[in-house]
Amino acid sequence: MEQEKKIKKIGVLTSGGDAPGMNAAIRAVVRTAQYHNVEVIGIRKGYNGLINGEIKEMRSKDVSNVMNLGGTILHTARCPEMMTEEGVNKAAAIYKILGLDALVVIGGDGSYRGMAELAKRGVNCIGIPATIDLDMNCTEYTIGFDTAVNTGMDALNKLRDTSSSHERCSVVEVMGRDAGYIAVWCGMVGGAEDVMFPEEKEKIDSAKVIQQILENRSIGKRHNLIVVAEGVGGTQKLAKDIQEITGIQTRATILGHLQRGGSPTATDRMHASMMGYHAVKAILEGQQNRVVSYNRGRYEVLDLAEALNMEKHLDREIYDVIKVLAI
Ligand code: F6P
Repeated sequence: MEQEKKIKKIGVLTSGGDAPGMNAAIRAVVRTAQYHNVEVIGIRKGYNGLINGEIKEMRSKDVSNVMNLGGTILHTARCPEMMTEEGVNKAAAIYKILGLDALVVIGGDGSYRGMAELAKRGVNCIGIPATIDLDMNCTEYTIGFDTAVNTGMDALNKLRDTSSSHERCSVVEVMGRDAGYIAVWCGMVGGAEDVMFPEEKEKIDSAKVIQQILENRSIGKRHNLIVVAEGVGGTQKLAKDIQEITGIQTRATILGHLQRGGSPTATDRMHASMMGYHAVKAILEGQQNRVVSYNRGRYEVLDLAEALNMEKHLDREIYDVIKVLAI
């Protein structure tokens, strides 16, 4: 049986790498809570702010005009203290001192692992998935991914203009240390000839990539676009090798944190708003230690421990299709 308790006060924080759409999620949490007469405490700088008591009350007007903003108005951080027993104990103690009935955590996998530790110490945690990387096993969508891919696509469009004018090859590095979702999506929608991503790092053969560039030139292509995920690395070296071996002028571009910023797309605002709403509804229903996910076209609320044990794999078909369309 879920605990039936009058919910009076909840906390909300953003944690880990920021992601466009986090503000829309904060707005949805604050407004859904206020609609139900629940007080909201905004916690600054992720778990650090919980540990250090950096808090402020948030009301509807505090989230006016934030839906369209990238970044997070609550600020965020990666928090090494949450990896220590002492840090987690302190965070749980502050939660109790603040008199919170639940803590909404908007963040990625690392933030969810922090929630699991807090849950063991009596903190009722509700997660909202937010990371540009899309690499959370319990959900098919994470807030920020669509904006990041659109930023990557825009960059590829621009690089295509200049590569094509100069008949050059462009090697573009996109974000994603451990996951290739951004890379394969950018590769597909940007019309790249090849994509290198971490899940297949072992199989990458740059000689083959270079051979493909030469073949494409022989059938009339006048420029080339290659996408490399951050986790594969070696972008500058690959560009140098391509130029040396093929004689084709090649330039490397690293998009880096550019992909973390910007006004969220409609897709990100929609998911963030719906997920924020569902997170507060779950709390009001008395649910404990849950995460909001988006799977098979629906929002669902899953058990935190089960969510952390789920598996998800990059759909390799996207890559296979990129190769077909690259001729
Ligand atoms: O938030 C996800 C992400 O942007 C990854 O794509 C990237 O590998 C990492 O964060 C970079 O982290 P930081 O901002 O701490 O350098």
